[in-house]
Amino acid sequence: MIKFENVGKVFTQKKNKVNALQDINLEIETGDIFGLIGFSGAGKSTLLRTINALEKPTSGKITVDGNDIYSLSPKELRAKRKTIGMIFQQFNILETKTVWENIALPLKLNHTPKKEIEERVDQMLKFVELEDKRDEYPGKLSGGQKQRIGIARALATRPSILLSDEATSALDPKTTDSILALLKKINRELGVTIVIVTHEMNVISSICNHVAVMEAGRIVEQGNVIDIFSEPKADITKNFVKTVIQDEVPEKLLQSIYEDTRNYKLLRLKFQSSDSTESVLAQVNKKFDIETNILFANISEIQEQILGIHIVQIIGSDIEIKKAEQYFTLHGVGYKELEEYKEELKEVV
Ligand SMILES: Nc1ncnc2c1ncn2[C@@H]1O[C@H](COP(=O)(O)OP(=O)(O)OP(=O)(O)O)[C@@H](O)[C@H]1O
Ligand SMILES: [Mg+2]
Repeated sequence: MIKFENVGKVFTQKKNKVNALQDINLEIETGDIFGLIGFSGAGKSTLLRTINALEKPTSGKITVDGNDIYSLSPKELRAKRKTIGMIFQQFNILETKTVWENIALPLKLNHTPKKEIEERVDQMLKFVELEDKRDEYPGKLSGGQKQRIGIARALATRPSILLSDEATSALDPKTTDSILALLKKINRELGVTIVIVTHEMNVISSICNHVAVMEAGRIVEQGNVIDIFSEPKADITKNFVKTVIQDEVPEKLLQSIYEDTRNYKLLRLKFQSSDSTESVLAQVNKKFDIETNILFANISEIQEQILGIHIVQIIGSDIEIKKAEQYFTLHGVGYKELEEYKEELKEVV
């Protein structure tokens, strides 16, 4: 486990002070794929770099598997660092060395026996699917292939933690997906704990199980990815979630209910299992004296779970609507009345 307790970092440049990290309390469990998201300057990279002692906090404590990394002796710290690999947005690979030599580099620095280096590099080339590029120079390779070299190099020394700083930010969407799939494979097959810094919420939704949202050096929200996606609380989190799940009713559809004089409620329905809301909605329509009008529907797969968000106009008497709401609760469909749209409607009418 990686644990942050009241961690702070102040950068002092001449007379300027920047609070890059403030009151950071965080627990990253072994085996997690933990995402750190925030806008530029939020402090994500600084936080990540404190884990492998590239950046020393000005206050607080960081422990990795029970060891306070800032009270280790230089020798112990060197040993600890070998258990933590890192990959970067710009890949940071050496253009003057071949793919094979790049991956072998950390092993050579560790004075690993030659035969072992050869075996390990070949293993890594296979793992990242670059066997046919072993003697090429990186200059000839694509961004995705370069990142695969970066990943193989980071994993060569068999670390238990992998830190990823915007590793997919320079890649196109398709290549991003293939690198994310590789990171997932590293987590599953090698049991490596991964901490991912990103400003893209789709990176979080595709592979992370936990997420912390950062703003101006602080963590404003953290939790299970599916919980954060279904009930974001902070404004910044809501904005990030919107980049993946757009759950605003299109203006055109709102207009369709402007003139509706019947009694109705606008509900935001949320379901998290594989049972579809559709079937629950169909049941509700059959069982109670109501009519439903779906204004918005989104179904996403997050963490191999289905998250459905529907915005529905339910038309009927208060009593029948109440019955429908009870039916939703009974069948695990969460609901929330959307007052804000009613307000919007009043303004227009
Ligand atoms: N070495 C440094 N010296 C002075 N200030 C720094 C240093 N490194 C970072 N900062 C400042 O600390 C704050 C956090 O920076 P950091 O790089 O951690 O943000 P970030 O969330 O990673 O941003 P980005 O998405 O742009 O990479 C910023 O205000 C930055 O200017
Ligand atoms: Mg950064």
